Amino acid sequence: TQPQRVLIVEVGPRDGLQNEPDVVPTDVKVAWIDRLSETGLKRIEVTSFVNPRWIPALADAEEVMRRIRRAEGVQYSALVPNVKGLERAAAIGVEAVAVFMSASETHNRKNINKSIADTYPVLAEAVQEAKAGGMFVRGYVSTAFGCPFEGRVPVEQVREVSLRLLEMGIDELSVGDTIGVATPADVHRLVDLLLKDVAIDRLALHFHDTYGMAIANIYAAMEHGVYIFDASSGGLGGCPYAPGATGNVATEDVLYLMRGCGVETGVSFEAALGAAEFIEGALGRTLPAHNLRARRGA
Ligand code: HMG
Ligand code: MG
Repeated sequence: TQPQRVLIVEVGPRDGLQNEPDVVPTDVKVAWIDRLSETGLKRIEVTSFVNPRWIPALADAEEVMRRIRRAEGVQYSALVPNVKGLERAAAIGVEAVAVFMSASETHNRKNINKSIADTYPVLAEAVQEAKAGGMFVRGYVSTAFGCPFEGRVPVEQVREVSLRLLEMGIDELSVGDTIGVATPADVHRLVDLLLKDVAIDRLALHFHDTYGMAIANIYAAMEHGVYIFDASSGGLGGCPYAPGATGNVATEDVLYLMRGCGVETGVSFEAALGAAEFIEGALGRTLPAHNLRARRGA
């Protein structure tokens, strides 16, 4: 049964910017996030407290988090890879964090420099400390549909990592198609399996649009009642440790889908387009969102 309402988690400032070759000035990030805050979005992933040597584009995490204007009722979150990241986030009052790991061994090693087995205790410690501090904790499973190094990832492997994260005490699981290879058939298979153990209120899906399948995949997941979707303003995005991965599904394209299907989002399409146009202008290049292109043609 299709949901009547979907919740969009805006990940552009984190997933979108982590891949930028040129450092985006902190002022621009803050201005963009402040615009996103005015669109009606309820959740914004702002930045990452990872090793700045690994992700130089987000080295200003503290400053961004400190300077954004917090709109009433909006959750502002950040990625943390370990307790060190968690403590950086906690030190400046961040209330929601996301831990992350991959369903495939090779991507996990390239992305966070550890085997899957060695990652569990690191994340468990971070989740435990975050929950003890009263934070909301999301857990990402990356490469859930395919790995840039290993190819197809068995659904049992995705289930295993997902259940381990849930056992740690995460509030929400976000299942990521890091390199955008999934088709609706894959989504049906994996979502069916996960929903045997995961409550619908705890399951988010995170699609990249590398092969143009993201909107179809969201629609497929909605047929199972999934209603939490990650998206990125303008369709910015990619993972620096996933060669070939392109942007996340664009927030405006998801909004266009939902509006057309009569599904509520609480987000203003016009305001979201305005925010995407702002970051597109600031970056000085064309972003992948279909709705930005359509708007330019109009
Ligand atoms: P490591 O080098 O193995 O870490 O990196 P370490 O624990 O051995 O520490 C080495 C150094 O890093 C030490 O500094 C630590 O203090 C420092 P030194 O003593 O050498 O000066 N360090 C830190 N500094 C700041 N903040 C921290 C931190 N932790 C350690 N939190 C580590 C391991 C995980 C830290 C590293 O690999 C890393 O930062 N990786 C980040 C990778 C990343 O951000 N990838 C992109 C996000 S995931 C993604 O995009 C997928 C997603 O969108 C979903 C999807 O699409 O599927 C979420
Ligand atoms: Mg991603």
